[in-house]
Formats: sequence, C-alpha cells, structure tokens
Amino acid sequence: MVEKQLIVSKIKEGIVIDHIPAGKALKVLKILGIEGKEGYRVAMVMNVESRKLGRKDIVKIEGKLLSRKELDLISLIAPTATVNIIKNYEVVQKYKVMLPDKIKGAIKCPNPNCITNRPREIAQPEFILRKKEPVELECAYCGTVIKGEEVEKYLKP
Ligand code: CTP
Ligand code: ZN
Repeated sequence: MVEKQLIVSKIKEGIVIDHIPAGKALKVLKILGIEGKEGYRVAMVMNVESRKLGRKDIVKIEGKLLSRKELDLISLIAPTATVNIIKNYEVVQKYKVMLPDKIKGAIKCPNPNCITNRPREIAQPEFILRKKEPVELECAYCGTVIKGEEVEKYLKP
C-alpha cells in the first residue's frame, strides 16, 4: 500500500501489532506487561484509518522479545490484531493472533472465594477457553465464567 506519510516511522527490529480495534492499544500494552518504565522503545498510533476496521490502533515495540504465547493473549481484547515481526526493516513474519485453549496467570478469577485468590496464591489462575465469539473463559478451579469485554476487567496488573 502506498502511504503518503507515516505518523510513526518504520522500525528496524521488533514487533508491530497492527489492526487493533480503535482505542484498545493501551490494553494491548497492559496484557503484554509493558508499562514504559522497562526502557523498551514503544510507539503507539491510535485512531488511524483502516480499510478493514474503519479506525484502528497500532503498537510498535523495539527491543523486547515476546513469545507467540504472550502475543496470542492479545486476542482476548483485540481478536483482529496481526503481529508483524520486523528484521532489518522488513516484515519477516506475519500472523493473526489466536485465542489460546488455556490461559495461565494472565487473568484473575472474579470469584473472591476461588483458591487462586487466597493470600499467598496457592494456585496460579487458569482459564479454559469455552467459546470464541464472544469469548467465554471458565476458571479451571471454581468454574466461574468470564464473558466478552468482562475479560478486560480481570487482566492481571
Ligand atoms: N512496519 C513497521 N516497520 C517496518 C515494516 C513495517 O513499522 N520496518 C509496520 C507497517 O507500518 C504496518 C505493519 O508493520 O503497520 C505491517 O507492515 P506491512 O506488512 O508492510 O503492511 P501491510 O501490507 O499494510 O499489512 P497488512 O496486509 O497486514 O494490512
Ligand atoms: Zn476461580
């Protein structure tokens, strides 16, 4: 695609998360555990035009290695997102994020009596994917179900 001007320049090495629904970029960074004080170079573009989505956000991260598993967590809040791996300015890999069958650690159980919410965390939270659209996750310990956008409320800080 011919672009007249880029709001944020191309990156040399790193990860570009594209096609994020407009307004969700900050939550994408949160789910990846990036707050800014770690020192990685991060660029964020919000509410730019997209042919597929109308408006979209883009996040570019330099210097941090992220596993496919970590990146797939993005699908919980941005199912349309694509991940582009950049090496020496070229896109060397591109894939659509996919909902994992099991999610360990990233989401807190809403049930205050769940074993995963006990002090000293005897058990790490674990959720099983029950439905994809809208997303439905079930706590592996107490069976509590989290649906759709509710997921955003229970992301671990
Ligand atoms: N990008 C970047 N730095 C690079 C190369 C690409 O920041 N060195 C960004 C582009 O700006 C774009 C995304 O990575 O947001 C994907 O790049 P590319 O595949 O070239 O763009 P499109 O063909 O438009 O992607 P798609 O088909 O996924 O919409
Ligand atoms: Zn639970």
